[in-house]
Amino acid sequence: MANVHEIEKGIYRISTGADVFPGGLQFNQFLIADEEPLLFHTGPRRMFPEVKAAVERILPVDRLRYISFSHLEADECGSLNEWLAAAPSSVAVCSRMAAMVSVGDSADRPARPLGDGEELVLGAHRLRWSDTPHLPHGMDCGYLFEETTHTLLCGDLFSQIGSDLPPLTEGDILGPSVEMMKRFTGGFAYSKDAGALFEKLAKMAPRTLASMHGSAWRGDGTRLLLALRDALS
Ligand SMILES: [Fe+2]
Ligand SMILES: [Fe+2]
Repeated sequence: MANVHEIEKGIYRISTGADVFPGGLQFNQFLIADEEPLLFHTGPRRMFPEVKAAVERILPVDRLRYISFSHLEADECGSLNEWLAAAPSSVAVCSRMAAMVSVGDSADRPARPLGDGEELVLGAHRLRWSDTPHLPHGMDCGYLFEETTHTLLCGDLFSQIGSDLPPLTEGDILGPSVEMMKRFTGGFAYSKDAGALFEKLAKMAPRTLASMHGSAWRGDGTRLLLALRDALS
């Protein structure tokens, strides 16, 4: 069963641990409860029943308005069509690249693509999309920043090994995330623009980094993003 924790006002982290490799891994989705609720990441298709049950603990699934994700991969958007069916007035929200290359074809309804810097207002929460191609992978990659709580939904950035990590920490996640990259992915698809993309995210001054795999982190997000840039360059 998924764990649910409110990590910022109206922002819920839904987390399921899995033994996908030694040490395990958490798959996290983030639900922003508002007039027009948004789910960031769907979870893999086979996890859909558990994630749906977790969302239902917070609000009726058919109230969902936006199903968003960072890039095309099973854990980010594998159950997109199941969500579009369960929430009939919902629409997929992704980068323009993702919509053009894949989602426009594979999703059961047309997506709402967001351009770099474009705003999406949910009610009290205000989101801004940032294109971050190849950071850490996927030419369609991008992230959402929630401006009222200063929360960066940072997807695969700061992924940490472990199936039972705390929902929110102020401890070290940089070391564990660099370690995970070394052990399992061989690093980032580090493009020539990666440094500038880290600086673009850092400039938003996030207070909470909501990572998709592992604990969310609270602190000086600018400092931590630039530290990850430096660790990788
Ligand atoms: Fe990914
Ligand atoms: Fe992921």
